[in-house]
Amino acid sequence: MDATLESTIRERIETEKARTAPPAEAVVVPLIPTERYTDPAFYELEKERLFARTWLFVGHESEWAEPGAYRQMTRSGAAIVVVRGEDDVLRAFYNSCRHRGAPVTRDECGTARRLTCQYHSWSYGLDGSLRAVPDSRSFTELDKDALALVPVRCEVWDGWVFINEDLDAQPLVEFLGPLADQMSEINGRAMRAVGTQVHHLECNWKLMVDAFLEVYHVRTVHPDNAALLYNDQSVTVSMLPNGHSRLSVEKHDMFRDMPLVSEENDNPAVPLLWRQTSTSYGIFPNLVVPMDTGAFTFLCMWPTSDTTTDLELRWYAPAWAGDEVPREHLERLALFDTVMAQDTANMAPIQASISSPGARPFQIGWHERLIHHFQRAVDLAIGSERLPSGTAVSDALDRFVEPA
Ligand code: FES
Ligand SMILES: [Fe+2]
Repeated sequence: MDATLESTIRERIETEKARTAPPAEAVVVPLIPTERYTDPAFYELEKERLFARTWLFVGHESEWAEPGAYRQMTRSGAAIVVVRGEDDVLRAFYNSCRHRGAPVTRDECGTARRLTCQYHSWSYGLDGSLRAVPDSRSFTELDKDALALVPVRCEVWDGWVFINEDLDAQPLVEFLGPLADQMSEINGRAMRAVGTQVHHLECNWKLMVDAFLEVYHVRTVHPDNAALLYNDQSVTVSMLPNGHSRLSVEKHDMFRDMPLVSEENDNPAVPLLWRQTSTSYGIFPNLVVPMDTGAFTFLCMWPTSDTTTDLELRWYAPAWAGDEVPREHLERLALFDTVMAQDTANMAPIQASISSPGARPFQIGWHERLIHHFQRAVDLAIGSERLPSGTAVSDALDRFVEPA
């Protein structure tokens, strides 16, 4: 990995461990109003101005194994089909027929040569073009060339597939910025999907994202697992452009060089620093990815209403031979489940208490500042001037955004 980045992170870890007061550069982190998590009007703006206009992770390219393989995505709001074309390119379209709007597929996933609407059988090529209209003699001046499925942006970076409904959005790799290079250290292209788990949560989606952007809660919430593994005093964070972030926390000495997976299932591309620390990337808006070797997860927070969220864990591992998932990976999932259960059990009670008259704005420590950074990026995506009165966060930390 980049030697300068590695030494910077290692130095910062040492500095964090040594300090006994906030670092000299620290400022008071401005308050975060709780209405951001409870106001239905805020959520409506997020759907319209954020989720419908940003890059969203939907999977790994291997999950569309062959031409014609498709998956339907509904988690971002609109129903969208992502399909691999005959030319191997992944494309995305709204799942809405140009005749009278029926879905062109009702299956969650499958493989097809064409996408054929189940209402009157208009059929579309894998590139979205309209190929066949039954009984076309009854349509006057039907311009088939102008009636392709409506496209959605779909771009792949290092094997990871993202979609964006904003046709004018900046390219994915530009949006990811420094993350693109840094995360490619795990060699995404050589991955394969292990499985997916979904937890239904009674909380606003941002409450769950916040929890993955700090390790302050680890001693209290995970005393019997994560707290034994990590030294929370070493936590080192970077606020990156576009609301992205990086968090590194050192493992305790006894675990630092202990292999977590057998050599057979290890990912040789993972650099030493990612092994000796727990480093995770916050990919704005709703994705957190802990760098790891062996099987690891992409944590996706999908709002299902203003006060409910689906936490989708998509697991990947270095590609293995055969159909059966190595047992070691499944054991890893099970272990992670214990940690997740502790995190998710926290969410409904917090959502309830911040909805009470006793709720007051959040006080954020300097070590938790990624939460403010994430919340500020939500405001920038929506436009602070559009937000319900009193719900915006401050721009006071903008000057701490780092180029890498
Ligand atoms: S709505 Fe699709 S063919 Fe009629
Ligand atoms: Fe946690």
